[in-house]
Amino acid sequence: MKPMTGKTVLITGGTGGIGKAAAVGLASMGARVGITGRDQARAERAATDIEAESGNQAVDVFVADLSSQTEVRRMAGEVLAAYPRLDVLVNNVGGFWSHRHMTADGLEHTFALNHLAPFLLTSLLLERLTDSAPARIVTVSSAAQSMGKIDFDDLMGEQDYSGQRAYNQSKLANVMFTYELARRLETTGVTATALHPGMTNTSFSAEDPARAMAPVVFVVRPFMRSPRKGAETVVYLASSSAVEGVSGMYYANRRAKRSNDSSYDAEVTARLWRVSAELVGVVVAS
Ligand SMILES: NC(=O)c1ccc[n+]([C@@H]2O[C@H](COP(=O)([O-])OP(=O)(O)OC[C@H]3O[C@@H](n4cnc5c(N)ncnc54)[C@H](OP(=O)(O)O)[C@@H]3O)[C@@H](O)[C@H]2O)c1
Repeated sequence: MKPMTGKTVLITGGTGGIGKAAAVGLASMGARVGITGRDQARAERAATDIEAESGNQAVDVFVADLSSQTEVRRMAGEVLAAYPRLDVLVNNVGGFWSHRHMTADGLEHTFALNHLAPFLLTSLLLERLTDSAPARIVTVSSAAQSMGKIDFDDLMGEQDYSGQRAYNQSKLANVMFTYELARRLETTGVTATALHPGMTNTSFSAEDPARAMAPVVFVVRPFMRSPRKGAETVVYLASSSAVEGVSGMYYANRRAKRSNDSSYDAEVTARLWRVSAELVGVVVAS
């Protein structure tokens, strides 16, 4: 029997890049894998590829633009209807924009998509994960978290916006979310970990109209890892018995690493949790 046989995994952003490679990895290990994307036809094509590469036909598609809270809520409902159990949630979707722009909810896009969407989706699926324990929540952050700062006075970059700063902040928020989530899930059998996938050759930042990262990507592309390699730590944290029960940790290259000093400040992570809950309209237990 394959190691993930009988397990159900949901991966956001499984139509390309790291998410799709992680889907192939986990489907190859026998898991039923749900992938998400914004376009039905693109997502179905990706599912067909994943099925062919993994030799596993148990790949499902969920469609939503996760920058919209209404869409996150609708999709979460569809996931709950489709999956009576959920063993692993991989929060993978993320992007970079050099110009400030807003979501349908009137929130700054980077913060909304990279941090608030996984925050909301996880909250909506948490009971199902807890009921399926032992379960795992894996969130794809970035080494950019180490340069991040949570600016509580200007979370949405209204006063001053830089794409890099917004991205760094959102990726630090991924780590803080993971640590606070781990604390909140201590007795539940559900673990929460975050990771840096390494510089990976994907479509990352291609939707930034200014293509601000393009010159950097052009220079570093030869040194970037393949999506399969970039997905290794995701697959490891989602499936390996070596990290059974491990929670509240940040990983890179399948090793635990120290994250930004501020991520260990429990008051700051708790404050970010409260602010995020308010922004997505979720009631927080203390
Ligand atoms: N690539 C790197 O070097 C690198 C380094 C560090 C961290 N990361 C992190 O790794 C994660 C994955 O990045 P990647 O490089 O694989 O990116 P990617 O190639 O751009 O893939 C992004 C995925 O997210 C989906 N997506 C994008 N916007 C969405 C939205 N608004 N709603 C729903 N789905 C959306 C895309 O699906 P559709 O287009 O089909 O909707 C696609 O499946 C991100 O969190 C990123 O911050 C990447």
